[in-house]
Amino acid sequence: MPNLWGGYWKHWDWNQALVVGMKAAGLDYSGQYGFAPTDMYWKVNHMVVPKAEALKCNDCHGKDGRLDWKALGYAGDPRSGG
Ligand code: HEC
Repeated sequence: MPNLWGGYWKHWDWNQALVVGMKAAGLDYSGQYGFAPTDMYWKVNHMVVPKAEALKCNDCHGKDGRLDWKALGYAGDPRSGG
């Protein structure tokens, strides 16, 4: 396993991170490493407001909406087809 904190994130060298990390883990390191394709799922748990405070369509669209569509480069509110 690579040593990331104070290791890879500092020197960006996978081999060096593995030498240090494998030694710390008490494991043998062949000197060869590779990367396996993986999937990662992250739950969205930052900047999420309670349901009751979630924005409704008209908070962004409609005449009192918070977005200045023209300033953003739209011909108009895209909900009304521009
Ligand atoms: C946080 C602000 C926000 C909220 C809330 C919001 N929209 Fe939008 N909406 C946008 C933005 C920004 C775009 C332009 C997206 C783009 O150009 O890809 C957009 C685009 C659209 C479009 C045009 C899509 C298209 O393909 O041209 C429709 C229709 C629309 N919104 C309907 C809704 C409806 C219905 C709701 C509520 C269920 C809603 N929007 C809530 C910001 C918002």
